[in-house]
Amino acid sequence: MPKQIVRPARTISGSLEVPGDKSISHRYALLGALAEGTSEITHFSAAADCRSTLDCFARMGVKSDIQGDRVKIEGAGLNGLRKPRRTLDAGNSGTTMRLLSGILAGQEFKSTLDGDASLRRRPMRRVMEPLSKMGARIQAREGGFAPLKIEGTQLSPINYTLPVPSAQVKSSILLAGLFADGVTAVTEPVRTRDHTELALAEFGCRLEPEGRTIRIHGRPQLKGRKLAVPGDLSSAVFFLAAAMVLPESNLVIHNVGLNPTRSAVLDVLGSMGAPVSLVSIRSEHGELVGDVSVRHEALQGGSIEGDAIAQLIDELPAIAVLGPYTEQGIEIRNAAELRIKESDRIAVLAENLRRMGAKVEELPDGLRVAGRSAGRLHGAEIDPHGDHRMAMAFAVAALGADGETVIRDAECAAVSYPDFFATLERLVER
Ligand code: S3P
Repeated sequence: MPKQIVRPARTISGSLEVPGDKSISHRYALLGALAEGTSEITHFSAAADCRSTLDCFARMGVKSDIQGDRVKIEGAGLNGLRKPRRTLDAGNSGTTMRLLSGILAGQEFKSTLDGDASLRRRPMRRVMEPLSKMGARIQAREGGFAPLKIEGTQLSPINYTLPVPSAQVKSSILLAGLFADGVTAVTEPVRTRDHTELALAEFGCRLEPEGRTIRIHGRPQLKGRKLAVPGDLSSAVFFLAAAMVLPESNLVIHNVGLNPTRSAVLDVLGSMGAPVSLVSIRSEHGELVGDVSVRHEALQGGSIEGDAIAQLIDELPAIAVLGPYTEQGIEIRNAAELRIKESDRIAVLAENLRRMGAKVEELPDGLRVAGRSAGRLHGAEIDPHGDHRMAMAFAVAALGADGETVIRDAECAAVSYPDFFATLERLVER
């Protein structure tokens, strides 16, 4: 699928399930690999990123068996990873590279961790610094970029305050803390997703949260588990956005992860006028799960900034493309982190929204997208710059535009959601 054509649609309705949450799937895979015994994970993410995590562990002797969305992992135990003979390839996945760095830092062997061209441009100093403080020796390319050569060692615990709000950095240190003697503490001034903490507790690890600090006791015994992954809200959000673009839409998305550190996007959509409702809410393995339903309503728009940004960072592309479909437009600030994701998401959003005729102001830390009064979007050729969330966001924008949109290299959507375009086609009416 080198390119994907998206034709305008009249409405979107029906019910669906989205693939398992990417963040949670990574964590269950990592901890399953380090646990004693077998873990069985259902509704495991279909994302290429999570496959990268499993492949890296396979190179360290951890066997997994994948049948559709079920994965069985034969845990190696905390001390059972084998020195990889080849470079570990994290592909496009920042989560794989940063979380795995924490684990590799605590091994007795040397390893090399690399990724694709996009991942090689993403900053790794943010994990290198704390892991070095714990005793690991990590070499990177000039500027702190992959490939990373990691010389693991017997780690010492640290007390570390995150300089940037990042769940990946927090998780990398907590995972390194598994291999340290004593108590490692991470303080996060701004709250980020807590899937690692919840998953560690599920696998039997002792954690002590206190305010914004999480303490982990090193050298626990992790036990293999049977776990079900909730649907990925960051994928579901593209369908919620589509329902906001197309009149008379009505959608129900079943079994979606609603962890409060991830669900800020629902509050934002609600505050802009989207009638989102949640039913059948329950807790599974510490994670909240429920059904999300939404129907079309004309959105007001508004601005998103401050600490909320860290809790909806992955959903900002879907929100930004809604700008031209709102009354007042959408402004996003304090989101400079978007520039160092799988692409420079601020620049790529601005470039492609303009191609579709939107009025956009690009800011160092965000963007302003003018509302409905600036005119209707028209079909265009979109370059997602290899970024899955850009490909999906512009498919949504295209549904309400005049004329056809062509999304180049749309297969990049498989990084998080291989069946995205087929599912969208099934639900829209023309
Ligand atoms: C993730 C954390 C976020 C997010 C990424 C997944 C995770 O990154 O953008 O898609 O699974 O921990 P940062 O930690 O860099 O903010």
